[in-house]
Amino acid sequence: MKITILSRSASIPSTRRLVEAARARGHRVRVLDPVKVEMHLDGRSANLYYRRKRLRPSDVVIPRIAQSVSNYGLAVVTQFALRKVPVMNSATAIAQARNKMRSLQLLSAAGIGIPSTVMARDAADLKAMVSLVGGVPVLVKILQGQDKAGVMVCESLQSLEAALEAILGLGHNLVVQQYVRKTGHDVRIMVVGGEAVAAVRRRARAGRLSHTLIRGAKLQKIEPTAAQRQIAVEAAKLVGLEVAAVDLLDVKGAPKVFEVNSSPSLTEMEKATGVDLAGAIIARAEALVAESRRPARASPRPAMKETP
Ligand SMILES: Nc1ncnc2c1ncn2[C@@H]1O[C@H](COP(=O)(O)OP(=O)(O)O)[C@@H](O)[C@H]1O
Ligand SMILES: [Mg+2]
Repeated sequence: MKITILSRSASIPSTRRLVEAARARGHRVRVLDPVKVEMHLDGRSANLYYRRKRLRPSDVVIPRIAQSVSNYGLAVVTQFALRKVPVMNSATAIAQARNKMRSLQLLSAAGIGIPSTVMARDAADLKAMVSLVGGVPVLVKILQGQDKAGVMVCESLQSLEAALEAILGLGHNLVVQQYVRKTGHDVRIMVVGGEAVAAVRRRARAGRLSHTLIRGAKLQKIEPTAAQRQIAVEAAKLVGLEVAAVDLLDVKGAPKVFEVNSSPSLTEMEKATGVDLAGAIIARAEALVAESRRPARASPRPAMKETP
């Protein structure tokens, strides 16, 4: 089959792995930079061009849309979907995953454990609401921004107030979250097509100032508990993601999901676990394409005129 990967560059390691895995499974694959895709709509059809040439059809699209071009990239993903090309993940699901408050709302509404979280637009209100999340220390998460938003731990009410005023003063939205202490590590579970395919514990690299992990964490393969596995699969499903990395922290044995990622890095996790994640994603793409073709084949033929 013909696979299109939407990615800023074919040399990004995760993109390269997807290309390799697709070729290894006998598919044709092209990598398109989403911002070089042009779209045309006219009320009847949705057309796609790449550098002004009409795009040749594709059987499936795997978006790896960088946060910095999220809006444009998601429009491209939607345009493919309008052409009835299966996309994994959908634009709606990616947008939901990228909106931290929205994903927490979806998860919480379905009874999935999350760290207690408050959101408000006023520093004094937020400071007063800190008791709702168990008091300091808390984690402040900035929601806006082109790149990964950023988190900071505030140990005292004074430092919290200063941080809130600075961030809100810049016009950014933020949430204040219960800071899950002790651990120094979190758990990431990769979910592909509704199945937990790999799991790691992420440990902050020694010497990191921050209490949080973010980049450069050390990954260690783990066997997730049944509860972790179940919550990860459910979280991916609620956000609507075919491919997701579900990040969680354990609070007294109960997993709490704090983020669902729609374009997770594949290479580090493949190295840590030995699982062929790119291969799993391509296998799921094959299944989706087969599924998308099935209803057409299974649907009854146009009724023949009955002969009396
Ligand atoms: N409630 C929390 N308590 C403690 N640590 C957290 C909590 N939420 C997130 N972290 C840590 O902070 C890191 C960054 O948070 P995350 O929500 O993933 O933001 P982003 O990936 O957008 O930077 C996570 O990898 C995790 O280790
Ligand atoms: Mg994260």
